[in-house]
Amino acid sequence: MIRTWRLDGPRQTLALGSRDNRLARVIYWGPRLPDDEDMGTIYDAHKIDVTGGMLDDNPELTICPESSRTFPGQPGLVVADGDGAPLFARFGYESEVLGENHLSLTFSDEETGLVYTAHFVIDPVTNILEAKAVLEANRPVRLHWLAAPVLPAPQYSDELIDFTGRWCGEFQTATTQWSAGGRYRNNRTGRTGHEAFPGLIVPCRGATNTQGEAYAFHYGWSGGHRMVAEELPDGRRQVQFGHANGTETEPGTRFDTATLYATYSDTGLNGCAVAYQRHLRDRIVKWPNPDRPRPVHYNCWEAVYFDHQLPVLKDIAARAATLGAERFVLDDGWFGMRDDDTRALADWQVDPRKYPDGLGPLIDHVHSVGMAFGIWLEPEMINPDSNTYRLHPDWALGYRDQILGRQQMCLDMSNTAVRDYLFEQFSDLLTNNDIDYIKWDHNRVLPMPDANQPRGTYALLDRLREAFPKVEIESCASGGGRIDFGILQRTQRVWLSDSNDALERLQIQHNAALFLPLAITGSHVGPRECHTSGRVLDIRFRAWVAAQRHLGFEMDPRELTDEEAQVLTQVTTWWKHNRDWMTRGDILRLDSTDPAVTAEQQMAVDGSRFVVFAGKAATSAQVSPRPLRLTGLDPAAQYRLDLANREDITGLSRGTQGLKDGPIKVSGRYLMTQGVTLPWSFPDRMWVVEGERI
Ligand code: DGJ
Repeated sequence: MIRTWRLDGPRQTLALGSRDNRLARVIYWGPRLPDDEDMGTIYDAHKIDVTGGMLDDNPELTICPESSRTFPGQPGLVVADGDGAPLFARFGYESEVLGENHLSLTFSDEETGLVYTAHFVIDPVTNILEAKAVLEANRPVRLHWLAAPVLPAPQYSDELIDFTGRWCGEFQTATTQWSAGGRYRNNRTGRTGHEAFPGLIVPCRGATNTQGEAYAFHYGWSGGHRMVAEELPDGRRQVQFGHANGTETEPGTRFDTATLYATYSDTGLNGCAVAYQRHLRDRIVKWPNPDRPRPVHYNCWEAVYFDHQLPVLKDIAARAATLGAERFVLDDGWFGMRDDDTRALADWQVDPRKYPDGLGPLIDHVHSVGMAFGIWLEPEMINPDSNTYRLHPDWALGYRDQILGRQQMCLDMSNTAVRDYLFEQFSDLLTNNDIDYIKWDHNRVLPMPDANQPRGTYALLDRLREAFPKVEIESCASGGGRIDFGILQRTQRVWLSDSNDALERLQIQHNAALFLPLAITGSHVGPRECHTSGRVLDIRFRAWVAAQRHLGFEMDPRELTDEEAQVLTQVTTWWKHNRDWMTRGDILRLDSTDPAVTAEQQMAVDGSRFVVFAGKAATSAQVSPRPLRLTGLDPAAQYRLDLANREDITGLSRGTQGLKDGPIKVSGRYLMTQGVTLPWSFPDRMWVVEGERI
């Protein structure tokens, strides 16, 4: 007996089938099928053949491949009884719930007392497919591995792109070829990590940023993920995502995976990117004030570090406001005896040596110059050299002789006493001070990964958000060490990287745009000489790179020359003028044919306008800039194009050429075929081209 189900979105269909009450498997995932497609036929047509030297039938690649059914690859579930004896379930159909955009399927196994449920939802607007699995048991069992519903990867694909990185170098792509066996990632750091953003892109043959087919996956969890992308001996391919191995440290009767966000695109990698950007911004993130324009930030970290002096901070705040900043974020160093990073974490009382009258005078001043006030916290951490540790050494997570990270330990966030303490501290802080923003940091990995830790953090965040619904929160972990849709259900911005080096940022934020929209991606103009790379970069480049995302400043404004201040003010004014549509728009990565140029087109949702940022990260091999093809335009429409920063043309650009002298009017067809020809420029410069549909 065959059962089939289908879920449709505007551009994709997910079809599942099950025979003889067995666990379901995906029989089709790709472009939307005709409504009258016969699912029974698809079920049969999808089967692969049987030949010599093998079993008499192919073990099914189900949504949770079972070890009990001679499945030749990685199983979707590894679970043991309370006494450690492995349990090999053979699930049978139990029930289903099918709605317009959602499907839940439940299967049970009497012998092991296990029940497995898979939930699927296709968002009809953003095109994201959400999938999650739940395992229930009739007594406490030990879970080693549970995959979110397993999806097939396309055959018409040669490679996989997943993510690696490091401090100050997040979102690096790692490309591997499909071959027999698997690409396996198991992030045991206990947090999302710089080195393991939980994403995967499977481009089909010939796909680029702007064209072709691609599939993409993201696992929305902050405790470290495991990914298996595997090709079986028979050629079938599976993609599994779940919590990192063995991070469910206690027996339980119910385990939930986090949500796997997946999508199919027929408009290249950008189709996936736009789906994630919109889903994150419009579905995942809860905005306290949805209509409030994203304020320009000023963050004082790289200006003063731990050296907080009220008159200096006031001076800096006034200067930042003059440059156009709208929110001042007081970073690390305001509490306890926090004169450097060796001490005081978890002592969340204002330092009376630095702030004898509390934070009030600084906050009042910041407000008086027209900015809102935000503050840095690192709630999940404790320094052994802190009053809190001396009082509660048992609150720290892990063994006493563990290797410290930045001289600190993690607090045990599964301990309710710890969470209550933190809640009270922050509750006091937020009640007694007019603070509208928290930069929530997490500067070390866990001593041992444990899913209860992110759960505890989520619980504290949820409690604080409920008590202070107007406060926005930024997720930071030494820069981009905790960026995922799990933490972003509770936060509104990410500190993408500790690198304020515009050259590095250009690439980091370009790759991050495969998942992250402008609205949540912080990007700051750093000091003239970058503190993490030593590079000296021109203010124009620093400012325009930051203006590609949620703009902020992080240099000491006292270092700015008049000319630098003027450029910064000008770019900030431009950003404020455009932020409304850019915040709601899409970031499309362009297929630059010059490896020296990293380019993107930010497009208004209605297609009426766009801006192209073409960042030149090196000197080109060829003499003149290669034309840059645009994307997503109406071929028949005419567009008016103009350089937003014409004043940046240097004397070494000597030719006469369309855009140099003034705006041009050309068709979408021309721009998407021939492309835009830009003036010659130095490396470490950005061209900004504004486009408007006529
Ligand atoms: C790491 C963050 O990424 C920085 O921006 C800064 O907030 C420091 N921590 C403060 O200790």
